[in-house]
Amino acid sequence: MPREAFVDGRYLPFDSAKVHVEDRGLQFSDSVYEVFAVREGRILEMAPHLARLKRSLAEIGQGMPMSDAALGVHVREIVLRNRLADGLVYLQVTRGVSKRDHAFPATAVRQSVIMTARSADPAKAAKSVAAGVAVICVPDIRWGRCDIKSTALLANVLAKQQARTAGAYEAWLVDESGFVTEGSSTNAWIVSEAGALVTRSIRDNILPGVTRAGLLAAIAGEGYTVEERSFSVVEAKKAREAFITAASSFVLPVVTVDSTKIGTGRPGPVTLALRERYLAEAG
Ligand code: PDD
Repeated sequence: MPREAFVDGRYLPFDSAKVHVEDRGLQFSDSVYEVFAVREGRILEMAPHLARLKRSLAEIGQGMPMSDAALGVHVREIVLRNRLADGLVYLQVTRGVSKRDHAFPATAVRQSVIMTARSADPAKAAKSVAAGVAVICVPDIRWGRCDIKSTALLANVLAKQQARTAGAYEAWLVDESGFVTEGSSTNAWIVSEAGALVTRSIRDNILPGVTRAGLLAAIAGEGYTVEERSFSVVEAKKAREAFITAASSFVLPVVTVDSTKIGTGRPGPVTLALRERYLAEAG
């Protein structure tokens, strides 16, 4: 099945889809993005992803490139054209093409809208869930606006590569006080020694994860003790369970942090129940 990409209003063969050399996304990472999960042909959490895109754009002085309804049509269309059953849709909006100058273009230019779709293997994902994944901790060297879903991801890229090199799935980013902020491309959670679900507050310079919010909504009123607060690496290593959330992995058990076993060293019952609950609600 030939793949297709969406670039500036046109569906193109994936291999020949190109962006301009002076696109501000390429030159300055002057662009924001969203990643949508597709599960059994359905796009998960479309509305909250579009709302976050709108917010990211507003924070960099931009509006949406088209209406939510029109963007939604294109997200669905890229799924159909790529015959995606399970996988991800990537959507990027840049400030557009303009002569290289750090300041915004003096006259408004058309935003660039780029979309790609990629399939994922549910069997492979199931294996990761069954085994759990390893994370390592690295210093968080990012900027002060991690709430904006910017494509300026160099610090995240370097952290993820450190994880890969160490044979781990994810890198947890740690602030100067020893608190875990989030993963390089995921939100971080623990089930504390006391049994509370703990995840950093979105007021503390992290990405407001759509999966994070979806999970919190799915379990509201179900008797969990939820603490939206920072947790340290030391606390994480003593936790009963740990897990990460993202559109690309839903709820995924973490079984080691810096090679320290979390709990029994196996995916925990709370994490697995939360995954089921999230998928029942959102998936
Ligand atoms: N990453 N934190 C960071 C830094 C992220 O990049 C992501 C998502 C998340 C989780 O957000 P959500 O639940 O909305 O996917 C948290 C995407 C999947 C990516 O960059 O590929």
